[in-house]
Amino acid sequence: MRTDGARVGIIGCGTIGAHIARRAIEEDAFRIVFGADIDQARVDALGLTLRDCLDPAPLGVDLVIEAAGPEALKRVAPRVLSEANLLPFSLTASADVEFNKTALEVARASAAIIYLPHGAIAGLDGLHDARSIITEVRVSTSKPPRSLGRDDRRRQVLFEGITREACRRFPRNVNVHAAVALAGLGFDRTVSVLVSDPASDVLEHIIEAKGPGVEFSFRIASRPQAGVTGVYTPESAYQTAKRLCVRRGGGMVPV
Ligand SMILES: NC(=O)c1ccc[n+]([C@@H]2O[C@H](COP(=O)([O-])OP(=O)(O)OC[C@H]3O[C@@H](n4cnc5c(N)ncnc54)[C@H](O)[C@@H]3O)[C@@H](O)[C@H]2O)c1
Repeated sequence: MRTDGARVGIIGCGTIGAHIARRAIEEDAFRIVFGADIDQARVDALGLTLRDCLDPAPLGVDLVIEAAGPEALKRVAPRVLSEANLLPFSLTASADVEFNKTALEVARASAAIIYLPHGAIAGLDGLHDARSIITEVRVSTSKPPRSLGRDDRRRQVLFEGITREACRRFPRNVNVHAAVALAGLGFDRTVSVLVSDPASDVLEHIIEAKGPGVEFSFRIASRPQAGVTGVYTPESAYQTAKRLCVRRGGGMVPV
């Protein structure tokens, strides 16, 4: 793998952020200029330089990856977008109308790109490309109770309704739903279902979309690795970041 000089900052050096950093270093995929985390030890453990993204000194990066949480994203996104492209993973933040409006305004003014990663699922490109011809989108997620911070003994439907409300009530658990809403029909026309299932040991997402003459469904299941994140997501996040940093030809890139 050739390094092509892309300069990257990582906000949040937990499960996803640390994996991205380790893999990028291992493959010499891009240059990580800084790490940001409220827990400095996590930045130090990766050998990265700590910085506060609200510090007025220029960020000096092409891309900032956020893997810290929706509140952290809301705090730093306007500053980041005034100087760099952004790859956010805490997508439930975008269900906040004011935040989403501000982020898009800043991005427009500075010509920055907000990348929408597929994260824990796949197929967002297909959904996005179908958005003018589909009329219904439903996302159903089932998780073991401990991944939801619960101790249910029986299967419980915790939520069924519009995705905007699901994001407000379960900001750490429905990033997939936010991604589907952003790629497809929006937060108010996407239906979310969230289930706590003690009989299951995987994080399962089923995405169904329909329109006149077209219908598709997609299921992905991944074992919880730590906290809210399944085994697939950290590597998916790294590969997405790497794809964004490739600027020279010489290989194949799925689009
Ligand atoms: N888009 C998706 O498909 C998807 C999938 C899984 C997780 N996520 C989301 O991605 C984010 C990261 O997930 P994770 O599993 O790596 O979480 P994690 O808890 O393992 O790591 C989060 C890190 O961010 C740090 N942090 C917290 N608040 C911060 C702040 N204000 N500023 C800087 N650092 C801060 C924490 O100390 C921690 O190191 C979460 O919001 C999670 O919900 C998204």
